[in-house]
Amino acid sequence: MQFLDHISLKKYNTFGVEAKARYLVTISDYDELKSLLTNFDPDKDKHLIIGGGSNLLFTKDFDGWILLNEIKGIVFTEETDNHVLIKVGSGENWSDFVDFTVAKGWGGLENLSLIPGTVGAAPVQNIGAYGVEQKEAFVSLEACNLKTGKVRIFNYPECDFGYRNSIFKAAEKGKWFVLDVTYRLQKTPELHLSYAPLRNAFAGKKAEQITVSAVSEAVKKIRRSKLPDQATLGNAGSFFKNPVVGREKFSRLKQQFPEMPFYPQENRNIKIPAGWLIEQAGWKGRQLGNAAVYHEQALVIVNPGKATGQEILKLAETIQQDVYRQFGIELEPEVLIL
Ligand code: EPU
Repeated sequence: MQFLDHISLKKYNTFGVEAKARYLVTISDYDELKSLLTNFDPDKDKHLIIGGGSNLLFTKDFDGWILLNEIKGIVFTEETDNHVLIKVGSGENWSDFVDFTVAKGWGGLENLSLIPGTVGAAPVQNIGAYGVEQKEAFVSLEACNLKTGKVRIFNYPECDFGYRNSIFKAAEKGKWFVLDVTYRLQKTPELHLSYAPLRNAFAGKKAEQITVSAVSEAVKKIRRSKLPDQATLGNAGSFFKNPVVGREKFSRLKQQFPEMPFYPQENRNIKIPAGWLIEQAGWKGRQLGNAAVYHEQALVIVNPGKATGQEILKLAETIQQDVYRQFGIELEPEVLIL
C-alpha cells in the first residue's frame, strides 16, 4: 500500500487536467484495503475509487481520499466443453483482459475491445459498445463493503444493470469496492455483428474468416477511426449518454428532423445519438476556451493540452444548453464530474 498526500491527479485522469488530492492510497489486494478501512469511515471521509481514471472529470481539487485500484490477477474457476469462467482482479486493464480472452479464441468480450479503464469499472457502469454490453458475459463480482470490511458476492440480477448503469451507481453508490469480476466466455463463440459498420466490415467474407480475433480487430479499427487515443489527446470517451425519449416526443422530433438517427428500445422508448444532436447544434470540432469537441465524434470532448476541468465543464454545459434549446432534450453526462 502506497500512501501519498497533496498529490497531483493529472496522470490519474485521462482528460489530463490538473487537480490535487488530499490523500491517494494504492490498493493491491483485499488485505491492504481491509487495513486501510480500520482508519476510514466511508460516511464521513470523502472518497473516490479510481481505476484508469478514464471516465471522470476533476473540476477542482479533491479534498478527500482517492483509492487507486491496483488489484491484479486472472484465475480460471470453471471449464466445461462450452465455456470457461474467469475471475479477474478489478485493477486489471480492461482492454488487456479482452485481448487475453481473444487470444484464446473465446467469445463474449471481443466487441468491447480497446475500451479504456479497468475491469472493476466495467460492471459499475455496464460498459458497452458495438451492440454488446459487459452484462452479457457477466457472472458475478466480489466487493468489499467500505463500512464493515466484509466481502459480498453480487450475482447478475443483484447488480441491476441498465444502460451505462448498475446498482453501484444507484442505491449502493459509494458503499463498495469491487475486488474481482467473473465472466463467462464461450468456447464456440456466438458473434455479434448487428452494429452496421461492423456488419459492413464482414460483408462478403467467408464464415471461417469471421472469428473472435477478426471481430476484435475490426472493432479496434472502427474505434481508432472514430475515437481519439487517450495516450495522445486527453478525453474520457463519450461525455454524454445517448438520451432516451418517449414515443410522442420522438414522433414530433422525427417530423421536424426526418434524417435524425434513432434506436428503438425494448420498452418502446427511443434512444437518440447524442453525437448527432451535438453535431446538429454546430459543436462538432469546435473549441471553447481550451476545450474542444472531437472532430470525428461529437460525443467526445477533448483536451488539446491546456484545458482546465472548469473549461471542459463550461463547454459541456454550453453544449447542453444549445441542444436543449434546439431539440428540447436534456443531455446527461456519462462522465463523473467532481
Ligand atoms: N453521429 C453523428 N455525429 C457525430 C457522432 C455520431 O451524426 O459526431 C451519429 C452517427 O452517424 C450514428 C449515430 O450518431 O448514426 C451513432 O454514432 P456511433 O455509432 O459513433 O455511436 P454513439 O451512439 O455516438 C455509443 C457509445 C460508445 C460506443 C458506440 C458504439 C454511448 C454514450 N456511447 O456512441 O461508447 O463505442 O456507441 O457502440 O452510449 C463510451 O461510452 O465512452 C463510448 C465511446
